[in-house]
Amino acid sequence: MTINPVFTNAKPLAARDARQQFEDDVVAGLSAPQKFLSAKYFYDAAGSDLFEAITRQPEYYPTRTELGILDTKGAEIAALLPTRANLVELGSGSTVKVRRLLVHRPDLAAYVPVDVSETFLHSEAEALAADFPNLAIAPVAADFTRAFTLPDGLSHDAVAGFFPGSTIGNFEPPQATHLLAHFGRVLGLGATLIVGVDLVKDKAVLDAAYDDAAGVTAAFNRNLLVRIERELGAVLDVEGFSHRAFFNEEASRIEMHLVSGRSQTIRLAGRTFAFAEGETIHTENSYKYTLESFRTLAVAAGWTPQAAWTDAEGLFSIHALTRA
Ligand code: AVJ
Repeated sequence: MTINPVFTNAKPLAARDARQQFEDDVVAGLSAPQKFLSAKYFYDAAGSDLFEAITRQPEYYPTRTELGILDTKGAEIAALLPTRANLVELGSGSTVKVRRLLVHRPDLAAYVPVDVSETFLHSEAEALAADFPNLAIAPVAADFTRAFTLPDGLSHDAVAGFFPGSTIGNFEPPQATHLLAHFGRVLGLGATLIVGVDLVKDKAVLDAAYDDAAGVTAAFNRNLLVRIERELGAVLDVEGFSHRAFFNEEASRIEMHLVSGRSQTIRLAGRTFAFAEGETIHTENSYKYTLESFRTLAVAAGWTPQAAWTDAEGLFSIHALTRA
């Protein structure tokens, strides 16, 4: 087992700066004509647990469907990874998905998980090392949307990227194009990229996936207000807002909002933000693609589509892209 932590790019914000950044972002979002909050603030410890719980809801098909594709097509997908490649997972979180590729490719030079959470990165890397004793593991603590360098000193013949979970769907299409182009620069010429992408489907199926009957997604959405109250000392009524999620067919995206149940205010940082009854805070977009619309996006970002796999119902897709 080889674990070489690499923190070249790790510049975690000091706690005070992170709090100030959060406050500045909330003030800016609540000052806009259509109030909004950034989806990146969903994932504190409680929010990450709530997301895990979402993935176990019967209505939330993406996670289990992507795992199913990896179970049935993993050998075919893994076969497209170059020989003796470093496999870089962008925003790794848990290793549950990449394991389904690693089992087919004992020749890989190294697994390089890239994630902002150092503690999670290391506990996951250790667990993986126990199960894949011959695999070199080189975690990188970094924000994958920013410039970061891959660890050097790993001898390899090629580089491959793995970006599962349809995280790409959280980005506006122009930003998604920029992100894929950025991955191209980070991974270098000759790279292969495996991306998980959620597909356009029946509106009722999409609406239900983001508004589960048990109310877990609602709690995940409201957790933003819980954080703003607790961490920023805002004066607000969490129960005064309700969860709304719907598929916007023109924009091909799920939108999540927090809807004000009455005329009320949020007080934060010496300011008062007024809400009319029914006014919303837009908290997330989750874009859905067709196989063809995603290929078009990939081509615009400088990648060449090689193959795509879906489940039998066509709910979710995994694409293999290469960069000449
Ligand atoms: C983690 C961005 C893939 O968009 O499906 C799940 C986040 N939000 N339910 C998604 C999410 C509400 C999820 N991603």
